[in-house]
Amino acid sequence: MTWFENYLACPVCKGSLLSEKDMYRCNVCNQKYPLYEGIPVLMPHLETLPGREDRSVFWNEGWKKQLENNNSLKGFGDAPGEEIKRRVEEDWKLLEGSLYTVEANREIVSGKVVLDIGCGAGSQGPIFESYGARYIGLDFSYNAAFYTQKYIRKIGGQGVGINGRAEYLPIKSNSVDFVFSHGVLHHTPKTQETFEEVYRCLKPGGSAAIGLYVTFSPVWIGIRARGWLAKVFSQNPNAKAWYHLTEGGWITGNNVNPWTKTYTKRELTGMFTKAGFKTIKFRKSVFNFGNCVPIMGKYIDRTRFGRRFSKAVAPALGSMWCIALKK
Ligand SMILES: C[S@@+](CC[C@H](N)C(=O)[O-])C[C@H]1O[C@@H](n2cnc3c(N)ncnc32)[C@H](O)[C@@H]1O
Ligand SMILES: [Zn+2]
Repeated sequence: MTWFENYLACPVCKGSLLSEKDMYRCNVCNQKYPLYEGIPVLMPHLETLPGREDRSVFWNEGWKKQLENNNSLKGFGDAPGEEIKRRVEEDWKLLEGSLYTVEANREIVSGKVVLDIGCGAGSQGPIFESYGARYIGLDFSYNAAFYTQKYIRKIGGQGVGINGRAEYLPIKSNSVDFVFSHGVLHHTPKTQETFEEVYRCLKPGGSAAIGLYVTFSPVWIGIRARGWLAKVFSQNPNAKAWYHLTEGGWITGNNVNPWTKTYTKRELTGMFTKAGFKTIKFRKSVFNFGNCVPIMGKYIDRTRFGRRFSKAVAPALGSMWCIALKK
């Protein structure tokens, strides 16, 4: 048995999984889940679960486009392991002040079993490997899970990519030490369910670091205003929800971002408390001119002034909540 298999469970009934040739079978509900190209595909069958919609196509196609065109901001293309390690070290310097270097830094996650929900297809796996974590990256995009595992293997790591949904974590209750999730759980209308799943999977005394969008921040206020204008002046009243204007890197054909919500501290405190968390700490990070000032913004971000200003104002104007939680 591989180390991570001790942590897996049926995504729907949470029964134990039996490992069979190229698949897993739930010993309670008997559902079968394939192991495809070394990736456990532990996705619930939504067609059997009333009222459930699949929002994974946008992300999966978006990752495919980014990875195949080798233009992902966070992918490594066909880079060899040494190059991946070097770029992780380089990127790491840019992550100063973020969830990765404060709430989930090397000291906190070293030696821990880390479940990364919405791991994406790039640098996160190698970062946590370099921190010395035992890493399980989960994403409902198969492409993301596949590339996460590919990059980890290239640097000689033992971590794994699995294909699963945040609303139905295929993980045993009270099992993992640490849950990480950056920029993910606001992309589902079932955010409360995902918080309850995080709580369920954590060991008693386990911790989590979660990054979510801040409602009252210049970036999200600006994008909502643009979305509102687009809707008012559009011929088609169903078109252009504000979040259709976001996550542009993943847009393919007519596939636009199917869902995003932003949150206030008050809303999130209520939701995390309802999920069972007792210790909840908030801070804001991430302020980029590029996201607020058209055309010139990205150039300002590259200047020394831009970097210093961004760092100084992020605690007040940042667009990402960095939330530290304890079970
Ligand atoms: C904006 S990307 C963030 C990726 C990465 N965490 C980062 O910070 O760079 C959002 C990721 O979450 C995944 N995702 C969104 N909703 C999900 C869900 N309900 N279950 C699992 N993965 C999800 C998407 O496939 C995508 O890889
Ligand atoms: Zn089952």
